[in-house]
Amino acid sequence: MSQKTVRVMFIGDVVGTPGLKMVDLMLKNFIRKYSIDFVICNGENAHHGKGMSLEALNQLLGAGVNVVTGGNHTWSNFNFFDTLKTNTQVLRPLNYPKGTYGKGYGIYKLPNGLGDIAVINLQGRTFMYSIDCPFRTSDWVIKQIREQEKDRVRMIFVDIHAETTAEKVALGWYLDGRVSAVIGTHTHIQTADERILPKGTGYCSDVGMTGPFQSVIGMQIKSATDRMLYQTPHKYECAEEDVHFSAVVLAFDVTTGKTVGIERIFYPDFEKGSI
Ligand SMILES: [Fe+2]
Repeated sequence: MSQKTVRVMFIGDVVGTPGLKMVDLMLKNFIRKYSIDFVICNGENAHHGKGMSLEALNQLLGAGVNVVTGGNHTWSNFNFFDTLKTNTQVLRPLNYPKGTYGKGYGIYKLPNGLGDIAVINLQGRTFMYSIDCPFRTSDWVIKQIREQEKDRVRMIFVDIHAETTAEKVALGWYLDGRVSAVIGTHTHIQTADERILPKGTGYCSDVGMTGPFQSVIGMQIKSATDRMLYQTPHKYECAEEDVHFSAVVLAFDVTTGKTVGIERIFYPDFEKGSI
Protein backbone atom coordinates (compact mmCIF):
# COMPACT_ATOMS: atom_id res chain seq x y z
CA MET A 1 0.00 0.00 0.00
CA SER A 2 1.40 3.40 -0.91
CA GLN A 3 2.05 5.97 1.78
CA LYS A 4 -0.89 8.40 2.14
CA THR A 5 0.67 11.03 4.35
CA VAL A 6 3.92 12.94 4.57
CA ARG A 7 5.25 13.53 8.08
CA VAL A 8 7.09 16.80 8.51
CA MET A 9 8.90 17.90 11.65
CA PHE A 10 9.47 21.61 12.24
CA ILE A 11 12.04 22.38 14.95
CA GLY A 12 11.77 25.71 16.79
CA ASP A 13 14.51 28.32 16.94
CA VAL A 14 17.81 26.57 17.60
CA VAL A 15 19.86 28.77 19.93
CA GLY A 16 23.65 28.54 19.98
CA THR A 17 25.86 25.54 20.65
CA PRO A 18 23.49 24.12 23.32
CA GLY A 19 20.66 24.08 20.77
CA LEU A 20 22.84 22.57 18.05
CA LYS A 21 24.01 19.82 20.43
CA MET A 22 20.40 19.06 21.41
CA VAL A 23 19.38 18.68 17.75
CA ASP A 24 22.38 16.44 17.12
CA LEU A 25 21.54 14.32 20.16
CA MET A 26 17.77 13.97 19.70
CA LEU A 27 16.73 14.42 16.07
CA LYS A 28 17.50 10.93 14.79
CA ASN A 29 15.47 9.44 17.68
CA PHE A 30 12.49 11.67 16.86
CA ILE A 31 12.78 10.84 13.14
CA ARG A 32 12.53 7.14 14.02
CA LYS A 33 9.80 7.55 16.63
CA TYR A 34 7.49 9.65 14.42
CA SER A 35 8.54 8.18 11.02
CA ILE A 36 9.51 11.67 9.83
CA ASP A 37 9.99 12.16 6.08
CA PHE A 38 11.24 15.75 6.06
CA VAL A 39 12.72 18.10 8.64
CA ILE A 40 12.57 21.91 8.64
CA CYS A 41 14.31 23.93 11.34
CA ASN A 42 14.50 27.61 12.21
CA GLY A 43 18.18 28.40 12.73
CA GLU A 44 18.46 32.19 12.78
CA ASN A 45 20.08 32.08 16.24
CA ALA A 46 22.18 28.95 15.82
CA HIS A 47 25.48 30.87 15.59
CA HIS A 48 26.35 31.64 19.25
CA GLY A 49 22.76 32.76 19.88
CA LYS A 50 22.53 35.29 17.04
CA GLY A 51 22.69 34.71 13.28
CA MET A 52 23.80 31.76 11.22
CA SER A 53 27.16 30.34 10.14
CA LEU A 54 28.23 27.74 7.61
CA GLU A 55 29.45 25.57 10.47
CA ALA A 56 26.07 25.73 12.25
CA LEU A 57 24.24 25.06 8.98
CA ASN A 58 26.39 22.00 8.31
CA GLN A 59 25.79 20.74 11.86
CA LEU A 60 22.00 21.00 11.37
CA LEU A 61 22.07 19.36 7.94
CA GLY A 62 24.39 16.64 9.27
CA ALA A 63 21.95 15.94 12.12
CA GLY A 64 19.13 15.24 9.64
CA VAL A 65 17.59 18.65 8.89
CA ASN A 66 16.56 19.19 5.25
CA VAL A 67 15.89 22.96 5.20
CA VAL A 68 16.88 25.74 7.60
CA THR A 69 14.65 28.83 7.81
CA GLY A 70 15.61 32.23 9.19
CA GLY A 71 14.38 35.56 10.50
CA ASN A 72 15.48 39.03 11.53
CA HIS A 73 18.87 37.69 12.75
CA THR A 74 19.72 35.81 9.57
CA TRP A 75 22.11 38.58 8.45
CA SER A 76 23.77 39.18 11.85
CA ASN A 77 26.91 37.21 10.90
CA PHE A 78 28.47 38.88 7.84
CA ASN A 79 30.57 35.77 7.14
CA PHE A 80 27.37 33.91 6.27
CA PHE A 81 26.39 36.12 3.31
CA ASP A 82 28.09 33.97 0.64
CA THR A 83 26.35 30.84 1.93
CA LEU A 84 23.01 32.69 1.98
CA LYS A 85 23.49 33.64 -1.65
CA THR A 86 24.36 30.14 -2.90
CA ASN A 87 23.06 27.40 -0.58
CA THR A 88 19.55 26.24 -1.49
CA GLN A 89 18.96 24.54 1.89
CA VAL A 90 18.94 27.80 3.84
CA LEU A 91 16.15 30.39 3.59
CA ARG A 92 15.55 33.91 4.90
CA PRO A 93 12.22 35.78 5.14
CA LEU A 94 10.89 36.39 1.64
CA ASN A 95 9.32 39.80 2.32
CA TYR A 96 12.57 41.77 2.65
CA PRO A 97 13.33 44.42 0.00
CA LYS A 98 14.31 43.25 -3.45
CA GLY A 99 18.06 42.69 -3.70
CA THR A 100 18.45 41.36 -0.14
CA TYR A 101 20.82 38.36 -0.01
CA GLY A 102 19.30 34.91 0.07
CA LYS A 103 16.15 33.08 -0.97
CA GLY A 104 12.77 33.33 0.72
CA TYR A 105 11.27 30.08 -0.50
CA GLY A 106 12.33 26.82 -2.06
CA ILE A 107 10.85 23.64 -3.51
CA TYR A 108 12.30 20.38 -2.24
CA LYS A 109 11.95 16.74 -3.21
CA LEU A 110 10.44 14.46 -0.58
CA PRO A 111 11.74 10.89 -0.21
CA ASN A 112 9.96 7.70 -1.35
CA GLY A 113 8.26 9.34 -4.35
CA LEU A 114 6.03 11.44 -2.10
CA GLY A 115 6.32 14.45 -4.40
CA ASP A 116 7.61 17.92 -3.63
CA ILE A 117 7.15 20.37 -0.77
CA ALA A 118 7.45 24.14 -0.92
CA VAL A 119 8.88 25.89 2.13
CA ILE A 120 8.13 29.60 2.50
CA ASN A 121 9.79 31.85 5.10
CA LEU A 122 7.96 35.09 6.02
CA GLN A 123 8.45 37.74 8.70
CA GLY A 124 5.89 39.81 10.57
CA ARG A 125 5.99 43.60 10.87
CA THR A 126 4.40 44.40 14.24
CA PHE A 127 7.25 45.53 16.58
CA MET A 128 9.71 44.46 13.84
CA TYR A 129 11.27 45.99 10.71
CA SER A 130 8.85 47.74 8.34
CA ILE A 131 9.48 45.31 5.49
CA ASP A 132 7.03 44.27 2.75
CA CYS A 133 3.59 42.95 3.67
CA PRO A 134 3.78 39.25 4.63
CA PHE A 135 0.13 38.74 3.63
CA ARG A 136 0.49 40.12 0.09
CA THR A 137 3.89 38.43 -0.26
CA SER A 138 2.27 35.11 0.59
CA ASP A 139 -0.40 35.72 -2.10
CA TRP A 140 2.37 36.40 -4.63
CA VAL A 141 4.50 33.38 -3.78
CA ILE A 142 1.59 30.91 -3.64
CA LYS A 143 0.52 32.10 -7.11
CA GLN A 144 4.12 31.71 -8.35
CA ILE A 145 4.34 28.17 -7.01
CA ARG A 146 0.93 27.17 -8.42
CA GLU A 147 1.63 28.62 -11.89
CA GLN A 148 5.21 27.43 -12.23
CA GLU A 149 4.73 23.99 -10.76
CA LYS A 150 1.31 23.23 -12.33
CA ASP A 151 -0.06 21.63 -9.17
CA ARG A 152 3.01 19.38 -8.88
CA VAL A 153 3.60 20.89 -5.43
CA ARG A 154 0.68 20.06 -3.15
CA MET A 155 2.37 20.64 0.17
CA ILE A 156 3.30 24.17 1.19
CA PHE A 157 4.84 24.91 4.59
CA VAL A 158 5.04 28.47 5.97
CA ASP A 159 7.35 29.64 8.78
CA ILE A 160 6.00 33.02 9.95
CA HIS A 161 8.74 34.65 12.01
CA ALA A 162 6.89 37.31 13.99
CA GLU A 163 6.70 39.01 17.36
CA THR A 164 2.96 39.19 17.98
CA THR A 165 0.53 36.32 18.31
CA ALA A 166 -2.26 38.32 16.63
CA GLU A 167 -0.26 38.81 13.43
CA LYS A 168 0.52 35.09 13.28
CA VAL A 169 -3.09 34.09 14.01
CA ALA A 170 -4.28 36.48 11.28
CA LEU A 171 -1.87 34.95 8.74
CA GLY A 172 -3.06 31.47 9.71
CA TRP A 173 -6.67 32.42 8.93
CA TYR A 174 -5.59 34.30 5.78
CA LEU A 175 -3.83 31.21 4.39
CA ASP A 176 -6.26 28.54 5.68
CA GLY A 177 -6.94 26.10 2.85
CA ARG A 178 -4.24 27.60 0.63
CA VAL A 179 -1.17 26.12 2.35
CA SER A 180 -0.55 22.94 4.35
CA ALA A 181 0.72 24.64 7.51
CA VAL A 182 1.48 28.01 9.07
CA ILE A 183 3.78 27.73 12.07
CA GLY A 184 5.18 30.68 14.02
CA THR A 185 8.73 31.31 15.25
CA HIS A 186 10.76 34.11 16.90
CA THR A 187 9.36 34.47 20.44
CA HIS A 188 11.14 31.28 21.65
CA ILE A 189 8.16 30.48 23.90
CA GLN A 190 6.00 27.63 22.68
CA THR A 191 2.25 28.21 22.45
CA ALA A 192 -0.31 25.49 23.21
CA ASP A 193 -2.68 26.35 20.33
CA GLU A 194 -1.65 23.73 17.79
CA ARG A 195 -4.67 22.76 15.72
CA ILE A 196 -6.08 22.19 12.26
CA LEU A 197 -7.95 25.20 10.90
CA PRO A 198 -11.36 24.54 9.20
CA LYS A 199 -10.02 24.39 5.65
CA GLY A 200 -7.14 22.06 6.52
CA THR A 201 -4.16 24.24 7.41
CA GLY A 202 -2.10 23.08 10.39
CA TYR A 203 -1.39 25.95 12.73
CA CYS A 204 0.61 26.83 15.86
CA SER A 205 1.40 30.42 16.93
CA ASP A 206 4.93 29.62 18.06
CA VAL A 207 6.86 26.37 17.96
CA GLY A 208 9.22 27.54 20.72
CA MET A 209 12.97 27.30 21.26
CA THR A 210 15.46 24.46 21.06
CA GLY A 211 18.05 25.80 23.43
CA PRO A 212 18.83 26.74 27.05
CA PHE A 213 15.83 27.66 29.21
CA GLN A 214 17.75 28.83 32.29
CA SER A 215 17.85 32.09 30.39
CA VAL A 216 15.78 34.92 28.96
CA ILE A 217 14.75 33.43 25.59
CA GLY A 218 18.21 31.86 25.22
CA MET A 219 20.41 34.67 26.56
CA GLN A 220 22.08 34.80 29.98
CA ILE A 221 19.68 36.09 32.62
CA LYS A 222 21.83 38.89 34.10
CA SER A 223 22.56 40.69 30.82
CA ALA A 224 18.86 40.52 29.92
CA THR A 225 17.63 41.80 33.29
CA ASP A 226 20.33 44.54 33.33
CA ARG A 227 19.05 45.75 29.95
CA MET A 228 15.57 46.04 31.43
CA LEU A 229 16.67 47.55 34.76
CA TYR A 230 19.01 50.19 33.31
CA GLN A 231 17.58 50.67 29.80
CA THR A 232 21.14 50.60 28.41
CA PRO A 233 22.93 48.00 26.23
CA HIS A 234 24.50 45.01 28.02
CA LYS A 235 26.37 42.35 26.08
CA TYR A 236 24.23 39.34 25.32
CA GLU A 237 25.88 35.95 25.84
CA CYS A 238 24.20 32.68 25.01
CA ALA A 239 23.06 30.73 28.08
CA GLU A 240 23.97 27.07 28.51
CA GLU A 241 21.79 25.32 31.10
CA ASP A 242 18.48 23.44 30.97
CA VAL A 243 18.30 22.67 27.26
CA HIS A 244 14.99 21.56 25.73
CA PHE A 245 13.87 20.47 22.27
CA SER A 246 10.81 22.25 20.80
CA ALA A 247 9.05 21.16 17.62
CA VAL A 248 5.80 20.26 15.93
CA VAL A 249 5.15 17.17 13.82
CA LEU A 250 2.62 17.51 11.01
CA ALA A 251 1.00 14.82 8.86
CA PHE A 252 0.02 16.10 5.40
CA ASP A 253 -2.36 14.21 3.12
CA VAL A 254 -0.29 13.50 0.00
CA THR A 255 -3.22 14.01 -2.39
CA THR A 256 -4.78 17.18 -0.96
CA GLY A 257 -1.77 18.73 0.81
CA LYS A 258 -3.98 19.39 3.85
CA THR A 259 -2.94 18.72 7.43
CA VAL A 260 -4.58 15.65 8.94
CA GLY A 261 -2.61 15.61 12.19
CA ILE A 262 -0.47 17.92 14.30
CA GLU A 263 1.44 17.18 17.49
CA ARG A 264 3.51 19.56 19.59
CA ILE A 265 6.76 18.37 21.15
CA PHE A 266 8.55 19.88 24.14
CA TYR A 267 11.29 17.59 25.48
CA PRO A 268 12.08 17.10 28.27
CA ASP A 269 9.04 18.65 29.95
CA PHE A 270 9.57 21.25 32.71
CA GLU A 271 9.51 20.23 36.35
CA LYS A 272 6.04 21.26 37.53
CA GLY A 273 5.54 19.48 40.83
CA SER A 274 1.99 18.51 41.74
CA ILE A 275 -1.17 20.36 42.77
FE1 LIG B 1 13.93 36.31 15.41
